[in-house]
Amino acid sequence: MNFDDFFEEEELLGKGTYGIVIKGTTKSSYTKVPPGFDVAVKLIKLGRLVDIDTIKDIKREIDILKKVSSPPPTGTGCNPGIVCYYDSFVVNYEGKKYFAIITEFIDGYTIEDLTKSLVYKFIDPTTGKQMFDKYTGEYIYDYNITLKFNDREILNFLKGLVRTLRLLHYNDIVHRDIKSANIIFSKVNSTIKYIDFGFACFTNLGSVYACDERVSGTPPYLAPELWTTNLSKISKKDMFNLYKKADVWSLGIVFYEFLLGTLPPEIAESLTISEIKQAVINPNPLIFIPGFEGDTKLIEIVKKMLVKNSKLRSDINTVYLDLENLSK
Ligand SMILES: Nc1ncnc2c1ncn2[C@@H]1O[C@H](COP(=O)(O)OP(=O)(O)O)[C@@H](O)[C@H]1O
Ligand SMILES: [Mg+2]
Repeated sequence: MNFDDFFEEEELLGKGTYGIVIKGTTKSSYTKVPPGFDVAVKLIKLGRLVDIDTIKDIKREIDILKKVSSPPPTGTGCNPGIVCYYDSFVVNYEGKKYFAIITEFIDGYTIEDLTKSLVYKFIDPTTGKQMFDKYTGEYIYDYNITLKFNDREILNFLKGLVRTLRLLHYNDIVHRDIKSANIIFSKVNSTIKYIDFGFACFTNLGSVYACDERVSGTPPYLAPELWTTNLSKISKKDMFNLYKKADVWSLGIVFYEFLLGTLPPEIAESLTISEIKQAVINPNPLIFIPGFEGDTKLIEIVKKMLVKNSKLRSDINTVYLDLENLSK
């Protein structure tokens, strides 16, 4: 079947290593959701010879999405913190064969977009002093789209992300690619959702989609232990726990970015992979931008997510409890 049979192509949402994500509107021949409905179609390229591993990776992504967020009657309703899964099948698109994963279209911005266009006024360039003591920045987009969050809203976003990751870990699932480009803020209902479960896997031995020792993720977000541990030399149980702590580290980096408006300077995207690795595996704590005084209690929680020694780092439940206590 062809892409055009089912969807009106609207725009290209993203381009990744494995394929593309297109915004489409459903035609009446598509029966899973009502016609005229916006969806995101993730197209993963299938070569002439499709190897078993690729298929297994795609099936794993779908299986996990189905488990964590699919609408009734296949699931228990969509999780508000995770992109909602609708459907998947093989399609032809521009003469090539793809595997299509259909999810809800989230009308908003990734945290990466927000961070990049954030007008932070924390530091007065002349005095070097912080100008605001709240996390109130102005987010300015093309064509006068302006968003503004206050500190309470920001705290609620962070709590939502922690609550969802806690639920994933509780259900023996790790995401393994948490980064600001894989989290979307919906401007329609002000929710914040994880997308891209392409590297997610199960942390229980019984699952066909149990995590293996292939390291995945994006350099600035990789926890120190992922650079230094030979995962094939440790027990599966230790590996599963390591992946959970590594998710907390990655989320800590996202929080850092979200609150401070930039990645920690020593792991900036402009650096080489080996520079990033060196900065992450050395024992010094990551640098928090000098002059930022913000909400010190919140920053302390983020610092505990970014402890380099994974044994001393918070697990997701601790982060959750820390944030709950903060808002009391
Ligand atoms: N459901 C969605 N709604 C809106 N934008 C999306 C959606 N899914 C993906 N995108 C956009 O496409 C990009 C790539 O999608 P993603 O699922 O992360 O694919 P990849 O595996 O290629 O990274 C995202 O960073 C985001 O900008
Ligand atoms: Mg992605």
